[in-house]
Amino acid sequence: MEQKVVAPAEAGIMKKVVAHAKEYGFVFPSSEIYDGLAAVYDYGQMGVELKNNIKTVWYKAMTQLNDNIVGIDAAIFMHPLTWKASGHVDGFSDPMIDNKDSKKRYRADVLVEEHAAALEAAGKKDEGDALVKKLARLLEANDLKAVQDLIIQTGIKCPVSGTANWTEVRQFNLMFSTQVGSVAEDTSLIYLRPETAQGIFVNFLNVQKTGRMKIPFGIAQIGKAFRNEIVARQFTFRMREFEQMEMQFFIRPGTEMEWYNKWKEVRMKWHQALGLPTNKLRFHDHEKLAHYANAAVDIEFEFPFGFKEMEGIHSRTDFDLGNHQELSKKKQQYFDNDIDEATGKPYGNYVPYVVETSVGADRCFLAVLCNAYTEEVSGEGEQQKERTYLKLHPALAPIKAAILPITKKDGLPEKAMEIYNELKYDVKVTYEDKDSIGKRYTRNDLIGTPFCIAVDHQTLEDNTVTIRHRDSMEQERVAISDLRVKIRKATSWKSILEKL
Ligand code: GAP
Repeated sequence: MEQKVVAPAEAGIMKKVVAHAKEYGFVFPSSEIYDGLAAVYDYGQMGVELKNNIKTVWYKAMTQLNDNIVGIDAAIFMHPLTWKASGHVDGFSDPMIDNKDSKKRYRADVLVEEHAAALEAAGKKDEGDALVKKLARLLEANDLKAVQDLIIQTGIKCPVSGTANWTEVRQFNLMFSTQVGSVAEDTSLIYLRPETAQGIFVNFLNVQKTGRMKIPFGIAQIGKAFRNEIVARQFTFRMREFEQMEMQFFIRPGTEMEWYNKWKEVRMKWHQALGLPTNKLRFHDHEKLAHYANAAVDIEFEFPFGFKEMEGIHSRTDFDLGNHQELSKKKQQYFDNDIDEATGKPYGNYVPYVVETSVGADRCFLAVLCNAYTEEVSGEGEQQKERTYLKLHPALAPIKAAILPITKKDGLPEKAMEIYNELKYDVKVTYEDKDSIGKRYTRNDLIGTPFCIAVDHQTLEDNTVTIRHRDSMEQERVAISDLRVKIRKATSWKSILEKL
């Protein structure tokens, strides 16, 4: 049957993905019964499976495919000096401006960039480009008064009040702070970590020594990070509480470009292996480097709202370890006894350089979900049928197989439960016997279950079942004894990892 897939870039697709995510238990607004909390989301029963699968495949790609990369799980709270050393106390801020009439707060740079995009859309690309360049110059010089003047002179208005009655521009630190200590006098200000990377840096020597690691080696970590984002929108793309999957690769100074290029390539392949199409992924070199980097690139994905950053790969030099060494007064050095060919002597002591790969689990989740969301029309005229399903990689799908007896009698449920009990130790499966088989197929399509296993009367006679495949809707007859191997193979981590 000919099937026409509706391109996800079509208007309104983002709205549909958000509604779908809520309706089928992937993502809920946080504390929804109190009308939610902006830019905070909860993962539901399907979402947590999909997100965990993405995290697992990242962790395995890092720590199982590389014998020189190990994992850690550092605490969210860290000594406050950590964030002084990392530069976050002094430099992790966004320029903000308030509209005095609507009392709404905006990121000043985003206001200007959106105005530039509107100019481009109106055929005035050069004007828009000039505006963005001017903004970059002013921000580089930290001339916030001039940024305010630029907003006013350009005639940028608040989308809510429609006025240009703006406050001055101020830098707003994105770190959330809280107190530790049980009594007021004992309290001291600490931060919720804005990146997981620093938990890796401060454990560099612990891991290197206890694991007898030799450079080059990496430390990988998955964990929560928190940022008080001013412009919080686009669903799980920009959240105030989110998860990062970060890996710091410790190397000999001078080898950073070699490793930077290698990790760029490896990480791009990982995204492709998840099933994200090559033409929806691209590199975007940073023009303005972060305070810690000497080379930086983003891997961008084409979300329904355009190409946006999903992962950052940064050559961070010895910035972090060097600063921790200075502030903590503890040496963060490594003794390299490999022979330097140029001098004929060991490389000796040095503070290692670092190449970092940092991907947001929630952004990756969103990319996978948007890419999987498929609306399909098949047939002609009166026979025309529409179908929505999630075309997820089988290894990422929340449920790998649904076991469905075609009726609730004649011993079919018992036989189906036998199959369920056999498979459940290997893969996540469900058993369903309510509603027609067609409705159950539809429900499973909507959550991306790759295999529906129908148990019918023939099953009782010859121990075979029908597998109905999600994407093609084709059906095949299979012996129960072959099911386990077949489903495990199609949904295995290897099916992704072997592409790396
Ligand atoms: N350690 C480096 C670092 O944190 P970053 O570019 O600020 O670099 C890395 O963040 C990744 O974390 C981003 O590419 C993105 O995927 C994710 N991320 C950052 N802020 C986020 C937010 N507010 N919501 C969701 N994901 C976010």
